[in-house]
Amino acid sequence: MDRIALVTGADRGLGRALVGSLLASGWKVFAGRHLEWPELDELASQFATQLQIIPLDVGSDKSVSDAVQLVEASISQIDLLICNAGIQRSAHVNSVREELNFDDMLGEFNVNAVGALRVVHAFLPLLDSSDLKRLCFVSSEAGSIGASTRTGWFGYCMSKAALNMAVKNLSNDLVDQGYSFRLYHPGWMRTYMSGTKNTEAPLEPEQAAEVALQHFLDDSKSKPLTLHDWEGNDLPW
Ligand SMILES: NC(=O)c1ccc[n+]([C@@H]2O[C@H](COP(=O)([O-])OP(=O)(O)OC[C@H]3O[C@@H](n4cnc5c(N)ncnc54)[C@H](OP(=O)(O)O)[C@@H]3O)[C@@H](O)[C@H]2O)c1
Repeated sequence: MDRIALVTGADRGLGRALVGSLLASGWKVFAGRHLEWPELDELASQFATQLQIIPLDVGSDKSVSDAVQLVEASISQIDLLICNAGIQRSAHVNSVREELNFDDMLGEFNVNAVGALRVVHAFLPLLDSSDLKRLCFVSSEAGSIGASTRTGWFGYCMSKAALNMAVKNLSNDLVDQGYSFRLYHPGWMRTYMSGTKNTEAPLEPEQAAEVALQHFLDDSKSKPLTLHDWEGNDLPW
């Protein structure tokens, strides 16, 4: 039987690259599209029978429940969920003495932390039918409290630390029900987090996606949950 994945934040960057790699390996993929960027359309024409693009704003209850209905209309099971969607609005802030935008911070929380939980909660019935039950979360080193040296970036760092806590509690809840978890820092990538494509970062998203999928899809069901990075290290919580 076909393996089926759902990837959030798949319009561009790492999400789109993860979708491309999964499709090339034979997976059927539901790719969550937020805004109308064209990058996913190339994959849609290349992998017409494997890829379904679905509108999905992880920050919205309604959008997430509409997405569940769309997916349920065509399949009865998801094997792999990759919560990748993320935003960063606060990297220009390096001190509490600077101007802080609290609405932007709440937006980062809603997408980066609550968004992942919203998606897991809504799609869990479809995941329950799978024998794989693999839940993967793209976090960041910026969410590691133990490794933090930053003096700002409040909303992004706080929201990723909150995501890490959500994943820990999810794993406390669901491991005994056959679920396995991957919490991951993908490295510094040439993606669109800052609004335009980053040209300074060392990693193209396609390279980062290949490395990430090795971790997301490895065979071990009973691995202890860690915040794992693309170089193979476990970061402090
Ligand atoms: N770039 C890095 O160096 C880096 C480092 C560590 C961790 N990360 C993490 O990696 C993940 C992927 O980011 P990226 O680097 O690939 O950046 P990106 O190119 O900006 O991609 C982020 C994706 O999330 C989507 N998204 C934003 N808001 C959304 C929402 N409300 N609902 C659903 N999707 C939404 C974006 O879609 P739209 O463009 O259509 O809004 C886009 O497809 C994020 O979780 C990020 O925090 C990135």
